[in-house]
Amino acid sequence: MSGTLQAVRGMNDILPEHAARWQFVEDGIRSVVEAYGFREIRMPIVEKTELFKRSIGEVTDIVEKEMYTFEDRNGDSLTLRPEGTAGCVRACVEHGLLHNQAQRLWYTGPMFRHERPQKGRYRQFYQIGVEVFGFDGPDIDAELLMMTARIWKALGLQHVSLQLNSLGTSEARARYRDDLVGYLSAQFERLDEDSKRRLATNPLRILDSKNAQVQAVLDAAPSLSDYIDDASKQHFEALCGLLDAADIRYEVNPRLVRGLDYYGRTVFEWVSDRLGAQGTVCAGGRYDALVEFLGGRPTPAVGFAMGLERLVALLESEGAPVPDSAPHLYLVAPGTLAQQQGLLLAERLRDLLPQLRVITHCGGGSFKSQFRKADRSGARYALVLGEEEVQKREAGLKPLRENSEQEMVHFDQLAARLASLFGWA
Ligand code: HAM
Repeated sequence: MSGTLQAVRGMNDILPEHAARWQFVEDGIRSVVEAYGFREIRMPIVEKTELFKRSIGEVTDIVEKEMYTFEDRNGDSLTLRPEGTAGCVRACVEHGLLHNQAQRLWYTGPMFRHERPQKGRYRQFYQIGVEVFGFDGPDIDAELLMMTARIWKALGLQHVSLQLNSLGTSEARARYRDDLVGYLSAQFERLDEDSKRRLATNPLRILDSKNAQVQAVLDAAPSLSDYIDDASKQHFEALCGLLDAADIRYEVNPRLVRGLDYYGRTVFEWVSDRLGAQGTVCAGGRYDALVEFLGGRPTPAVGFAMGLERLVALLESEGAPVPDSAPHLYLVAPGTLAQQQGLLLAERLRDLLPQLRVITHCGGGSFKSQFRKADRSGARYALVLGEEEVQKREAGLKPLRENSEQEMVHFDQLAARLASLFGWA
């Protein structure tokens, strides 16, 4: 075999230079959801194929053409998870987490869909998702949306807007589907290939079409909002009222239907106009029938998932500053004695200052070459230790990002001096 190996198309490495932004996004979301009482759950990345077929729906794009499905050595059909909701429900039912109790759960990790890769759309991508079980009222829907709004604030994101819709009950949707199919069949020749195909399989998804001509056909189509049952309508109106009271702006979009079959009633998407065609950064809704459908007791449920690649890209496009992950100190210690004492000194500093990021120079070399590496590391200060300094139990502290003098600090004073320099005192 020759040539270098490359990552699988649509599956990205996240390199260290980007990790700080990822961690900022992940930490920001995690701290907000934990403030709302959510607890983490971790599910396997691989599940039985049947789980996704049953929950996401046989005639959805995901199940029809995007799943990474394979037979394992026992002949079982397994699938890399394309999303987290199905596995989360499976885990809750399997472990009895829904017996006489509500749950607020969050999870994160990679998801896999064999889509056509493009900016913001990958074959492996990361989500942070939340799922709430046990509440059927609009209050929890509203609180989830308040929580997402708080997340945008925590991340400093501005260019996102909320689209909201109600899908009503499955009976309401079935009646609507019949009428929509009737209307669109009469307009068949004006539809694009994709919509023609969907007319037979999943007609509601045609509402999502990005094709301008299809959208023009839809302008005169029946509207789902006219078919919604009274209870769902009341639920939706109450939700809108709660959002108004919380000053959360939204647009009701009667064409928002979502690509997974398990939804009913509330559905929503947070969309940005800064990301091109893949502008949805967070999406979710209610799925009150799924728990029972997967073998649990009837349990109302609602949740959402955020796409982390898209949030990171949005932060970049908004010019948010990159969080500082550079080391505070780089220890320059030429010579055997200084090297040995330097390692011990760095350990002591780590004991005393848990926030300190310190790199010790490894691999020897001259003072000059070590100092050059210190500079290249991006560290704020070099800590310089030679044989003479070791004897005197002091080290030189030399600023690397500004032009000022080195100061000598006694080992016993070093932690206090650093704490004051970095504002930790
Ligand atoms: P989804 O709309 O399929 O919903 O995905 C949620 C989010 O994941 C999207 O809005 C997007 O940000 C991101 N995403 C999806 N596909 C890709 C991709 N190929 N590349 C990059 N990012 C992507 C769900 O997955 C539901 N499980 C959400 C949910 C949770 N509903 C209720 N609870």
